[in-house]
Amino acid sequence: MGTDKDTQTSIFNKSKVNPPILIRKCTLEDLDKVKEVNENELPEDYPFFFYKSILDNYPDSFLVASVKNNPNEIRGYVMWRVERMPSKNSLRLVNKAHLVSIAVSEDFQRLGIASALLSDSMLAIKKKKINEYVLEVRVSNYRAINLYEGLNFKTEGIKKKYYRDGENAYYMVYKVNKH
Ligand SMILES: CC(C)(COP(=O)(O)OP(=O)(O)OC[C@H]1O[C@@H](n2cnc3c(N)ncnc32)[C@H](O)[C@@H]1OP(=O)(O)O)[C@@H](O)C(=O)NCCC(=O)NCCS
Repeated sequence: MGTDKDTQTSIFNKSKVNPPILIRKCTLEDLDKVKEVNENELPEDYPFFFYKSILDNYPDSFLVASVKNNPNEIRGYVMWRVERMPSKNSLRLVNKAHLVSIAVSEDFQRLGIASALLSDSMLAIKKKKINEYVLEVRVSNYRAINLYEGLNFKTEGIKKKYYRDGENAYYMVYKVNKH
């Protein structure tokens, strides 16, 4: 992966990815395609204004995987928000990056795209003085759990009936090493 400037955060050039994929910042024009990927891959869908508000508030960590030679074709996305919360052990407030959603289109899965989206977006949001990255994942979603464990997220608890259909969620955390 090489670094680029402006909206392109990295070029994803693994030989097995064909056509080549570019990881770059999301734009307003991408949002309909992002919504489409979400609706195809996840049971949770969101109204357009929700994507727009995440883009308006956290543009640096809202990334898409687009086809390099046809940047309008979106094959994956990741989005985060930042929450200011009391720390677990004191009244000090800390910044948590909370994963809002990530998905990769079925034909492009298992090529390392989600890993690249996560690493690039976590790096991009780090400048907001993040102490930890947190997420919820369906207890049945072994693909995503493997993905997060591979990036050193640890399960810290279960949120009962977190999803609308009653499924439980694992609460997973990646703590930033301050030393
Ligand atoms: C979960 C998801 C985002 C992974 O995207 P991806 O681009 O295929 O992931 P990667 O290729 O980067 O895979 C990284 C790791 O995730 C795990 N993983 C991904 N797909 C897997 C599968 N089908 N079976 C088991 N583990 C899998 C593996 O540990 C993999 O590493 P490896 O290939 O070295 O074994 C994708 O399957 C998806 O979009 N699923 C539907 C949406 C979703 O569940 N989002 C998460 C909501 S919390």
